[in-house]
Amino acid sequence: MPNPTPRRARGGIAVPVLLLACLAGSAGAQTALERGRYLVEGPVGCGNCHTPQGPDGPVAGMTLAGGLEFAEPVFRAYASNITPDRETGIGKWTDAQLIRAIREGKRPDGSTIGPPMPFMLYRQISDTDVAAIVAYLRTVKPVANKVPKSDYSKFPLPPAWGPPVGKVADVPRSDKLAWGRYLAGPLAHCVECHSAPTPQGPDLQNGLGAGGMKFPGPWGESVASNITPSNLARYSDAELKKIITTGVRPDGSKLKPPMGIPYYAKMTAADLDAMVAYLRTLPKK
Ligand code: HEC
Ligand code: HEC
Repeated sequence: MPNPTPRRARGGIAVPVLLLACLAGSAGAQTALERGRYLVEGPVGCGNCHTPQGPDGPVAGMTLAGGLEFAEPVFRAYASNITPDRETGIGKWTDAQLIRAIREGKRPDGSTIGPPMPFMLYRQISDTDVAAIVAYLRTVKPVANKVPKSDYSKFPLPPAWGPPVGKVADVPRSDKLAWGRYLAGPLAHCVECHSAPTPQGPDLQNGLGAGGMKFPGPWGESVASNITPSNLARYSDAELKKIITTGVRPDGSKLKPPMGIPYYAKMTAADLDAMVAYLRTLPKK
């Protein structure tokens, strides 16, 4: 991947390089590392699964160190340690291996990574953004934390989640609805939790945004809401943005977990705006 940073330092070509970066759409004038930090600490929120949670939220000093348990009827998964620790994390993996793990769900040894990591959506993360995510993961504090092995014996994993991903182009930010769709889908995976559940996973074709997925936990049970206009039309854009970034509805009631509110709280105003505009266009369910 060409790295624009050293070139930009040479004053003469700074403007064309910046222009190109803007035309490319997704990276803007940010460096890959800045973009990656925004994505992981913001809308993508890998830590919502990969950072262990205590009674008061994410455990301090354990960012992305793994161990959070997902106890489902058909599998028991433990989120991996994705810090650069060389023994218990991903410190020995190359960039290409990490990109393959994130978008294709394949480890360097060829084994398949299991759910609930949202591979069907992560397959659509652009080359620029997945490289940015990897650049940021390299800078996270390494934490030695050995995570138990997930058990998928009752849910045999496929040899692959699909054909090799190949190249994924950037989505142009100038197309507000396409950008909003990219945010709500591949990046923030709102529709992974909020689409109609089936035994094979969420129905992103016929049940997009319909809600109904159940999340049992220490909070009792939460049920993902319908996020199509049949339910969300009762909220103004400002109310909707407040719900997504604070977890509090206009009537003062609070959303139960596991929505990644602290991550969405870091979204830029422009990204939130595009995402809400897109949600308004979902077919009613
Ligand atoms: C909805 C929860 C969830 C989200 C969101 C999620 N992951 Fe995962 N991830 C998991 C689980 C669970 C595993 C372990 C699966 C297994 O044991 O096969 C995993 C495994 C991995 C692995 C394999 C590591 C190894 O040592 O085998 C990598 C790399 C990874 N995730 C990176 C990421 C990145 C980067 C993001 C954000 C872009 C992310 N994940 C978002 C749940 C999630
Ligand atoms: C890990 C699963 C998960 C993810 C990811 C997720 N949500 Fe949610 N969301 C839920 C659950 C569960 C509820 C219901 C909480 C409750 O009823 O207390 C909810 C509730 C909501 C509500 C409240 C609707 C109402 O009727 O008041 C909105 C709006 C919403 N989510 C939007 C989003 C958006 C937008 C995203 C992506 C940025 C997103 N969610 C990502 C699980 C998720």
